[in-house]
Order: sequence, then structure tokens, then C-alpha cells
Amino acid sequence: MNAKVRKAVFPAAGLGTRFLPATKAQPKEMLPLVDKPLIQYGVEEAIHSGIQNIIIVTGRGKTAIEDHFDVSFELEHLLETRNKKDLLATVRAVSDINVSYVRQKEALGLGHAVLRARELVGDEPFAVILSDDVIDAEVPALRQLLDVYEFYGAPVLALMEVPRENISAYGVVDAEPVGHNGGRDRLYRIRNLVEKPKPQDAPSNLAIIGRYVLTPEVFHSLETIEPGSGGEIQLTDGLKHALRSRPIYGYRFEGTRYDAGDKLGFLKATVEFALKRHDLGEQFRAYLKSLQL
Ligand code: UTP
Repeated sequence: MNAKVRKAVFPAAGLGTRFLPATKAQPKEMLPLVDKPLIQYGVEEAIHSGIQNIIIVTGRGKTAIEDHFDVSFELEHLLETRNKKDLLATVRAVSDINVSYVRQKEALGLGHAVLRARELVGDEPFAVILSDDVIDAEVPALRQLLDVYEFYGAPVLALMEVPRENISAYGVVDAEPVGHNGGRDRLYRIRNLVEKPKPQDAPSNLAIIGRYVLTPEVFHSLETIEPGSGGEIQLTDGLKHALRSRPIYGYRFEGTRYDAGDKLGFLKATVEFALKRHDLGEQFRAYLKSLQL
């Protein structure tokens, strides 16, 4: 039996430069899709995947994230006295989540952020979720990865095919399909990984998306490697190092992914999530149609 994954790490200490000026004084992770902050979508995905312990890596200017998952006595009291039961339940559900925090004092890269969570994770497998990758899926994307992990007991990365011209925004894998296990054509064994390659140097069109199931040896790799692309400690480089001593798998998840850390991706996600809402969808659709684009 492979050890159960009980903890999910949310690196949220980046500077969010693609979303300035909105992210000057508020964390990117708190930008809402309709009425829910990005990070809450990710946290709910972890919980729906069976993970109860949330670890958020924060930095300066990120206190709104801690406040969001904290109890708000005044607000709860007000909602109670006004008999707003549904809103009260919504607010309480958020503060009931078990969240721990660790600080990344300087934004030295995603790999560096993950390494900050080492003490809180301990010697056990863990998930990593980048909350600006929002994935709308019938089976939560992280759950899909966990199913692979539970079978192989090895790290698993979320993969997605992206057009060549966009590939240099991603970590990219060289991977071979794993045919067995019920003919799952979504499963790959990773041969190599490259962070943000030029289109002509990319080993494939399979990009790493922000969901990972990792084993604790990856911390050692992250500690060992030198800064890479952009002078940052890259998680992709850490995984490349870990690949020397253990297999790593990739899974082309089922679902729609939105890059909500990017303005256009954020707008697309906002429109599509709003259209799906029972309370807003119909009116919003009528409004969009009235624009006669
Ligand atoms: P991104 O590159 O998407 O986020 O990192 P960013 O750096 O905040 O945004 P831009 O590119 O400047 O607009 C992916 C994830 O890794 C986290 C980010 O918070 C985001 O969730 N991250 C990145 C850290 O926690 N620390 C870092 O040093 C870098």
C-alpha cells in the first residue's frame, strides 16, 4: 500500500506581475471568479479529492488569504442577527477548513516556495496546487492524479497539450505513453523535463499544469539544484533531478483548465463560470447575447 496523501501545498507567494496593478496590494490568489477567490477553488478541489490538510505558502502582502480562511466574528454575528442562514453557512464553511501557513520571504521561484513547506509536510507524499490554474472537471483534476499515484506510488504531474507557439510559458515534458492499466492513453512516463523551452527546443507539446502529487525525496532535489530559468529555483528542475533516481508519471487530465493568473484567461474563466451559475447564468447569457458581438 502506498502512503495516503493527506496534505496539499498551495504556493501563493508569487508577485502576480501579469495582473498588475490589481496585485499591487492584494494577492492574485484572492481575485474572485464571480464571487469566490481563486485559492478557494483550489482548496475545494483538494478537499473534494480527499485531502483535508491545506498548507499555504504566503509572502508579504498576502494577509488577505489568512483572513479569508479565518473566523470573522463580526460578520458571522451580523449575518446571524439578520437571519441570513445561507450566507452564514457559506462563510463558516470557509473558516472550518484546516489551513497552516508558512512564509516564503523572497519570491525565489516555485521550487523554492515548495521547499518552504518541507517542515509542515514532513516525510510523506503530498500534493501541490497552483491556484491560478483553475480546472473545471467532473472528477477533480487532483483526484485524477491521486488515482495514478495510488497505483504507482511515484510522483505524478498534470499534463495538457498546448499549441507550440505558447509552449515557452510552461514546463514541458518528454514522455512516453504507458499503454497498460486498462489502456489508459492519458498516462505517460516522463523521460525528461524542461522549464520554459523555446518552441524549437521543446521536447513535445505536453505542458505541466499546476497540479502535482510528489514524494518527499523531491525536497532533497529542490535543495540540491541551482537556480534555473529566470534565476529562480524551478520545481521543474527539481523534478528533473529527482527523475535520476525514481520514475515520474504524467497524466493528461480530463477537464478544462483556465490560466486565471493571466488577464485573458481570467476573463474567459469569469464568463464561463458565470454562465454555469444557477443564480446568474440565464440573465448573464441574455446580457452577452444583447451585446451582439
Ligand atoms: P507564477 O509565475 O504563475 O506566479 O507562479 P507569479 O510569479 O505570482 O505571477 P506572474 O507570472 O508574475 O504574473 C506559479 C505559482 O507559484 C507561486 C505563485 O504564487 C503561483 O501560485 N510562486 C511563484 C511562489 O509561491 N513563489 C515564487 O517565488 C514564485
